[in-house]
Amino acid sequence: MQGFQLEIWPEGTAFFRRAVEIWQEQAAAAIRQRGRFTVALAGGNTPRKLYAALTQTPGIPWQETWLFWGDERYVPPDHPESNYGMVRRILLETVGVPASQVFPMPTQAGDPLRDAAEYEATLQQIFGTECPAFDLIWLGVGEDGHTASLFPGTAALQVQHRWVTVGQKGEEPRLTLTYPVLNQARQVVVLVTGASKAAIVKEALTTEAHLPCQRLNPQGRLLWLLDAAAAAELPLPAVALLG
Ligand code: 6PG
Repeated sequence: MQGFQLEIWPEGTAFFRRAVEIWQEQAAAAIRQRGRFTVALAGGNTPRKLYAALTQTPGIPWQETWLFWGDERYVPPDHPESNYGMVRRILLETVGVPASQVFPMPTQAGDPLRDAAEYEATLQQIFGTECPAFDLIWLGVGEDGHTASLFPGTAALQVQHRWVTVGQKGEEPRLTLTYPVLNQARQVVVLVTGASKAAIVKEALTTEAHLPCQRLNPQGRLLWLLDAAAAAELPLPAVALLG
């Protein structure tokens, strides 16, 4: 693993309070420097409590926030598996992000490659022709070491000439940002909780296993934000536990 920061927090409230704090810090810095905050959201279960905690946090600069997704299941937006649908239900129905600043990955063309190209065109309209440098990208990690929808042994891992490509979870197509975009970010946070992730966290952070999540090497900062359960197999002194 390239250089990264590691924070380990008690499970539950303390952990998600820290995640909210990171959101606030990154948003304030981005808006101060560039007038807006561009953030790509993770899907799956782990970030749900972060998104819920944000709805309970006053003072989040939603008017200057531009929301994107790091990956998306290839299902309609109202499908229970949709990452956009999850964020809409938990976050967007509560907070006031201008609709013109919310950019879900399209999944309705009936052709994942076409939708991937459409999202890339959307990113170009917003960021220009240079590879987008998101202010913050939230990612999770699967028990197989995947991140976003970059799964082990898939072609998406090799894509360097595109910003958005088609990932494969077995036979299931997904849309995903590619490593060039993930590694152009000013800040990447890998948000990991729970004992079920302890083994992959140890493998990712202490071996050269060549996992997809180990190829994260952003030009900005990379933070692995773990709760105590996810960090349980790391060979660390207890002093590392924050909070
Ligand atoms: C998705 C995510 C995926 C997720 C990991 C961890 O669409 O599911 O983008 O990469 O972050 O699979 O998922 P959990 O948080 O549910 O464990």
